[in-house]
Amino acid sequence: MERSPLESLRLLSPHLKPCLFNDLSTVTFKPKHTIECSREISSLFPECSGLPLLEAVKGKEKNTEALRIGAIFSGGPAAGGHNVLAGLFDALEGGTLVGFLGGPVSLVKGHCKELSKADVDAYRNLGGFDLLGSGRDKIETEEQMKAALDTCTKLDLDGLVIVGGDDSNTNAAVLAEFFKKYGSKTKVIGVPKTIDGDLQNEHVSISFGFDTATKVYAELIGNICKDAASARKYTHFIRLMGRSASHVTLECALATRPNAVLIGEEIHRSNTTLSKIISDIADLICLRSEAGKDYGVIVIPEGLVEFIPEISSLLKELNMALAKEESPSSHAIIASLSRSGQKCFESLPEPIRKQLLLSRDPHGNVQVSLIETEKLLAELVGVELGRRKAAGLFTGKFHPMTHFFGYEGRCAIPSDFDANYCYCLGTGAALLLRFGVSGYMTFVSNLHLPVENWHIGGVPLTSLMGIEMRKGKSKPVIQKAGVSLEGKPFIYLLEHKEGWGKDDCYLSPGPTQYCNNPAPPLTLSLRFSGKGEKR
Ligand code: FBP
Repeated sequence: MERSPLESLRLLSPHLKPCLFNDLSTVTFKPKHTIECSREISSLFPECSGLPLLEAVKGKEKNTEALRIGAIFSGGPAAGGHNVLAGLFDALEGGTLVGFLGGPVSLVKGHCKELSKADVDAYRNLGGFDLLGSGRDKIETEEQMKAALDTCTKLDLDGLVIVGGDDSNTNAAVLAEFFKKYGSKTKVIGVPKTIDGDLQNEHVSISFGFDTATKVYAELIGNICKDAASARKYTHFIRLMGRSASHVTLECALATRPNAVLIGEEIHRSNTTLSKIISDIADLICLRSEAGKDYGVIVIPEGLVEFIPEISSLLKELNMALAKEESPSSHAIIASLSRSGQKCFESLPEPIRKQLLLSRDPHGNVQVSLIETEKLLAELVGVELGRRKAAGLFTGKFHPMTHFFGYEGRCAIPSDFDANYCYCLGTGAALLLRFGVSGYMTFVSNLHLPVENWHIGGVPLTSLMGIEMRKGKSKPVIQKAGVSLEGKPFIYLLEHKEGWGKDDCYLSPGPTQYCNNPAPPLTLSLRFSGKGEKR
């Protein structure tokens, strides 16, 4: 297979490891405190609740059991996935790694292949999920779970590693419970992946892929900022991927300092309506225009629509209507809406209406990556500025340009951070399986220190779960974490946003640097939140 010069160099980069990993055969886990989960979750997961937090430590005895482990990529790609496989493969030390092909559905259908050293070596430190492929299918019905169990039994798997985001790790928890209930020897471990950065909690500082994706987007935004200040004639509306939480947008804003940044969680807290958002952006454009700046850069999260109160209520109604029937006509859906829902729907431009009616993903999520919110805002701001112009309140020029950055960042060559982090996550998953536990998510702590000081642990998946409405029904799901409005990264943005709006404080971070750094720079959000202070 042909590789670019950078890919060829990265293939040869050594994997950095925590000290503990010098002799994996003696690593064991120390149970710490038990993590309680809600009564509802305990009753749904009797086998996998009430488990202790686990910390990897050096043991006295050697464990060299040769395990057979299966691995699946689930959901959207994120940079570093191949290093999870490399970490798993190397830690198996003579065991077997089976890769499931094309995401969770392959577990039901039994589509898989044993990975050789040559297979894994050809993808070390490279982006994408292309060695195995991925998918968004949900393993939900009793029949699907039995088929998955059959596959694991036929393959004689000691363990199954599901690399995914919140929904995929929910799948992992459900399978772990099901497999335990049926006395299967296959243990299930989840690995926290998603560029969205919303799979984070007290133990998991960040999901893998976030660092790389935000570096790619920040480079592009920085370039656009420079272009805006040079050409001085366009107002850029940039929508960034990151489904519901605005972590990606916040991180990229801290790295580039655009003129305006919308954070979904803040809009939700302040109950800001669409018309207020539009009038605020128009105010900023007028202010800049008075200073001779008929240009600017506005960054918005792709999940924004789900935070704007009237659109969020509309989406809830649409979700219910779409969940009721197999493929209802758009006419029937609109007719089923409340009066306020219909009014909101009709106030939106035609393309957006169509996008809101698109089918939900297999987990019941609105496919926000397909809703062109940047175009909605650009159009409505244009209408508002036209109104102000007619009233003599705006004399400047408004030429909007819209962009969406999402798929560009998910499969980039992993940053030094993601390359190291993923290798450790893969190693951690293998070690948890060798220790014999199921229903855990592997995590790495001390990320603010050089890799040799990183620590590996396992947190019970059930302790990360709560109940949410999905496809019109309450379901147990791994909880997502939104941007904390009390957190230092957001506070920093708040403190600087006025200055960044008026003046041009743009930063251009440039392309990701690959130096095989043992202490790769942390994302700004992690550094600002104090987790990187010691570095
Ligand atoms: P995961 O949560 O599966 O990692 O996916 C995240 C994401 O990249 C979102 O940011 C985006 O909204 C969505 O996937 C796009 O989905 P798709 O790949 O199905 O178009």
